[in-house]
This record gives sequence, C-alpha cells and structure tokens, in this order.
Amino acid sequence: MKQILIAGGAGFVGSNLAFLLKNKYPDWKIIALDNLKRRGSELNIAFLKLIGVEFLHGDIRNKEDLEFNEPIDFIIDAAAEPSILAGLEGTPDYLINTNLKGTIHLLSLAKKHNAGFIFISTSRIYPIKKLEALNFFETDWRFELKENQPFIGCSVKGIAETFPLSGARSFYGATKLASEFILQEYEEFYDLKAVINRCGVIAGPRQMGKVDQGVVVLWMARHFWKKELSYIGYNGSGKQVRDVMHIHDLFDLIDYEIIHFTEVAGKIYNVGGGHDVSFSLKELTDCCVEITGNKTPINKVLSNRIGDIPIYITDHSLVTEETGWFPRRNLHELLTNIYDWLKKDEKQLKNILAI
Ligand SMILES: NC(=O)c1ccc[n+]([C@@H]2O[C@H](COP(=O)([O-])OP(=O)(O)OC[C@H]3O[C@@H](n4cnc5c(N)ncnc54)[C@H](O)[C@@H]3O)[C@@H](O)[C@H]2O)c1
Repeated sequence: MKQILIAGGAGFVGSNLAFLLKNKYPDWKIIALDNLKRRGSELNIAFLKLIGVEFLHGDIRNKEDLEFNEPIDFIIDAAAEPSILAGLEGTPDYLINTNLKGTIHLLSLAKKHNAGFIFISTSRIYPIKKLEALNFFETDWRFELKENQPFIGCSVKGIAETFPLSGARSFYGATKLASEFILQEYEEFYDLKAVINRCGVIAGPRQMGKVDQGVVVLWMARHFWKKELSYIGYNGSGKQVRDVMHIHDLFDLIDYEIIHFTEVAGKIYNVGGGHDVSFSLKELTDCCVEITGNKTPINKVLSNRIGDIPIYITDHSLVTEETGWFPRRNLHELLTNIYDWLKKDEKQLKNILAI
C-alpha cells in the first residue's frame, strides 16, 4: 500500500501515470493535484475519478495548497508550463513560479514526508546553440546525426547525459534545469531520495496538443479534422527530427523506479524513444495520412522558429543499461492509439484540438 501525490495530475503525463498506477495497484492511494491551467486538463478529471484516483484542485505555487495530514510515500512532479516558447515574449513569471518555485515547494513537501521524489525533467535543459551546432546530414526524408560530433555526449545514438550544459536553453529549459540543481542540493544536504528523468518528446492519448507543445497529437488532430498545418523552418522541408516516447513506455519506467527506488535514487537519466522511435515532420505526415486516410494542406514557412532545433534524439543507453527499460512502442502504434482516442472522444475534444 503506497500513497502517491502526482503534481500536474490532470495533465497529459500526470493523468496517464495516475490512471495506470491505480489500474496496476488498486490498493494504492493516488492523489492527482492540478490547478487546471492547461486547457483540456479538466476533461481528464472524470477519467481519473472513474478508476478511483483522488483529484485535488491545487496550485504548486501556493505552499498552503500542499498541506497533507496523511503520509506521502512518493511525489511525482509532472506539473509545469511545458512550452518551449513560454515566457520568450517577455513575461517568464508563470514559468519561474511554477516550474522552479513550485517544484521547490514539492521538494520541501517530500522532505517533510520523507517521500521519494520522481522529477519529470526535459531534454530542453540542453543548450540550444550547442544542439544547433551538431553535425547532421540530410536524406530525402529527414536529418540524421553524423558519427563525428563537436561535443562529448553526442553520437549517432543521440544525446547522452554527459552533453555540455553551458548556454541558453529557453526559460522552460532553464527553470527545469534550475529545479534539477536545487533537487540535487536537497539530495546532498537534506538526504532527499530522488530520480531525475530528462524526457524527450512524450506523446499519447489525453495530450492536449497545440502549436507550441504536443506536436504529435497536434499533427494527428489536424489530419483527423482536416485542418491546415505548416512545416516551419529549415526551408519548409519538414525534415526536422525528434524522438518520441509513448506515454505507456514512460509509465513502465516510472513503475520500475517506484518499485526499485533505492537502485535509481540519485540518478539522472535521459529517457526517450531513441533513434528507433523517431520521426521527421514529413514522416509524421506520411504516417498520419496512412492512419486517418485524410490529406491536409501543409504550408511551408521558410524561416526558423525561435528556440527550434533541427534534430534531437535521446541516447537512452544509460537507463537501459541500469534498469533494463527500453521503449517498446513504435510510432505507428502511438499514432493509432491517439487516433482511437480522438475518435472515441471526438465531441469533447473538438473544441480544444480542432482549432
Ligand atoms: N509532453 C512532453 O513531450 C514532455 C517532454 C519532456 C518533459 N515533459 C515534462 O512532463 C511534465 C508534464 O508535462 P505534460 O506534457 O503533461 O504537460 P501538461 O500541460 O499536459 O500537464 C501539466 C499540468 O500541470 C498543470 N499545472 C500547471 N501549472 C500548475 C501549477 N502552478 N500548479 C498545479 N498544476 C499546474 C497544468 O494544468 C497541467 O494539467 C512537465 O514537467 C514537462 O516539463 C513533457
């Protein structure tokens, strides 16, 4: 019997982890805390209640919302403003107050309850200019990393944990990295037990994809409802590449981490689909057309979008070596699961995803 608090528990990652944990361990008490800032998160509440996850309306920026009389065994921090573009227009306050100060409040809560801390961090902690400087070549369909790279921690397999950290990375990436640093101080001086998962793109059902965050769902939704899309940057080629991890693959890892917590405490892992589960926008289009049977107009925007990078692939060798975890679901399965969800909840989702 465990009690687990999931911050951001109505969001895409949080609600899926909450549901899957409760489904696998019906005796555990799972509390999903969320301030419902993300449009569409409110739709996930009914889905959580159905299986017996407790929903708590709360804001991690307010310490007063984080007072619990009952013991907490684990805190999973999946609450954030997760957009790479957020704050770049001149107001980073929400990001700093949620992604950094809010996480510090959760770290204090973990200290108070002697709870294990699972931090959902991001590949966006790696600096933009360094990622832009990587050597890659172009095929008919995508960019590919070359073997020879200017920095340590990068190979054809992708970006490893040893990749350099100096340079700007967006307010989103910076607030997540700053949280990682504070978390490490809690580990060192307050004996907090924690694990950091630096995730590449994650996707799956219940993600409220929008132009600045959640590209895989956005792409499938626009095909589903036959709405326009754009290949932005890189001459409008659509060859920019990301790896992607099915949310169920992330669940498999978090499940492992909870059960084997003493083995993973103190670790930092790069987690993602890796080269085997990666896509260019062109390839994503191809797969969406195949699954939906719909073709949608795609505009070409030649100039690059601020903060964008041509290619990011997670090198998950370390986590695979140490835990045996690896991504099992491929792109086709992921997109099919998203398509089935859109079809099932079409009426509800139309107002949010068909814009
Ligand atoms: N989705 C991805 O591709 C991806 C990739 C790497 C890392 N991550 C990380 O995963 C975590 C979850 O992201 P997601 O994709 O589920 O995003 P999401 O927006 O779907 O979920 C985040 C949730 O946090 C809630 N929230 C925001 N501010 C809050 C606050 N102050 N107090 C309480 N709740 C608040 C939102 O309402 C939302 O429901 C984030 O930490 C993000 O950095 C996501």
